[in-house]
Amino acid sequence: MTDPLLQARIDDARAYEALFVPALFQPWAPKVATAAHIQPGQRVLDIACGTGVLAREVALRVGSRGYTAGLDPDPGMLTVARLLAPDIDWHAGTAESLPFPEQCFDAVVSQFGLMFFTNRQQALREMFRVLKPGGQLAIAVWDSLDNTPAYAAEVALLDRIAGPQAANALRAPFVLGDTTVLTGLFDRLGYQAASVNTASDRARFPSVRAMVEADIRGWLPVMGVMLPESQIAQLLSEAETVLAPYTGADGVVTFDSPAHIVTATKP
Ligand SMILES: C[S@@+](CC[C@H](N)C(=O)[O-])C[C@H]1O[C@@H](n2cnc3c(N)ncnc32)[C@H](O)[C@@H]1O
Repeated sequence: MTDPLLQARIDDARAYEALFVPALFQPWAPKVATAAHIQPGQRVLDIACGTGVLAREVALRVGSRGYTAGLDPDPGMLTVARLLAPDIDWHAGTAESLPFPEQCFDAVVSQFGLMFFTNRQQALREMFRVLKPGGQLAIAVWDSLDNTPAYAAEVALLDRIAGPQAANALRAPFVLGDTTVLTGLFDRLGYQAASVNTASDRARFPSVRAMVEADIRGWLPVMGVMLPESQIAQLLSEAETVLAPYTGADGVVTFDSPAHIVTATKP
């Protein structure tokens, strides 16, 4: 029988895979894999793999002669990842302390995790350690909130109704949007030619309710913010107005969600 706490993490991860992955994360996996020049036969690590959308893309590209590993600290995410792709080598752990020997990967990839690492430079040092000489790094992070107006509107709504702690929880994914700050993280770590390519994709949620409930019930609790039901009801109701500019006649919410992909090589 599964421990109830683990079961709750698994349920959250299933919800993440069902709603957030197709709405926001899936389109970036091929872009990051292409930026990392993944080739058949390579050994590749996906860090902060979540439910494994990028690792699955990588596994297709490295083929049966290659090796793909995914790493994440969240046991719920890893359980879902393992169910979806049992042949990938899934590991529990953090980016700051990778459970792999030196120089064992041709490429290290990661999408939408770097902003949550407690020590980003230590994580980048660890990635450098496990890369082979000539190995390729590719990391995606969201552009700034200013360049993602639909989320900026939702953050402002949260600020007004639920206060700054809730608003900051939704700001957190966008904190590495400044490319100078982003590339500055690579200073003096030994990487060659860290460069940033900014691209955009369309986020797509089936409804305003689906988007806002995913954020309030799926994301805010991850950041330690639980809102009372009365506030959630008010947020859901007012979000219909605030997000109207991004809502089609069919109720589907679509908007640009730009991101930066940083690439660098280990000399
Ligand atoms: C927004 S999700 C992205 C997941 C996945 N890459 C995707 O594209 O769907 C962020 C992930 O970062 C993971 N994470 C948070 N802190 C981490 C750390 N210190 N080391 C590695 N992963 C971490 C979380 O558990 C979560 O799965």
